[in-house]
Amino acid sequence: MKATTLVAGLVLACAAALSAAAPASSTNAAGPHVFEKWCAPCHAAGPGHPGTIALSAKYQGRLPGALLERTDLTPQTVSYFVRHGVSVMPFFRKTEISDVELAALAQFLSSGGSEGRRVQ
Ligand code: HEC
Repeated sequence: MKATTLVAGLVLACAAALSAAAPASSTNAAGPHVFEKWCAPCHAAGPGHPGTIALSAKYQGRLPGALLERTDLTPQTVSYFVRHGVSVMPFFRKTEISDVELAALAQFLSSGGSEGRRVQ
């Protein structure tokens, strides 16, 4: 009887621990916020943004220069460039952009910006 109670208690405790460890599903609002803080100075639309200028030159009109106008970006692509950098773009440390923030940012950019705007 006692052992059964103990086992049941352990099972319950594990279940509680597991559900507490599950990632929050509503990270979407973080995407636009992280973009504004770390990426917009270089990647916003319009003149004067080095990332937008460089990508306009790279794609020669085949793709938009501004990241928020792209529809071809995948979360994997965004995560790769954010963690590795390219040319004058720095890579970002986890103390600057955490994995959770990066996931939200990558989701936001790969959805053409619609993902975050919907929840705002
Ligand atoms: C200091 C300016 C700067 C900042 C800040 C910056 N970038 Fe960049 N980024 C660039 C430049 C410049 C390029 C283009 C490099 C090249 O290929 O010539 C680029 C390229 C990229 C690319 C590759 C796109 C492609 O099609 O080649 C992605 C994706 C990207 N940046 C995402 C981001 C994200 C997300 C952030 C914010 C976390 C960010 N960047 C912050 C300057 C910046």
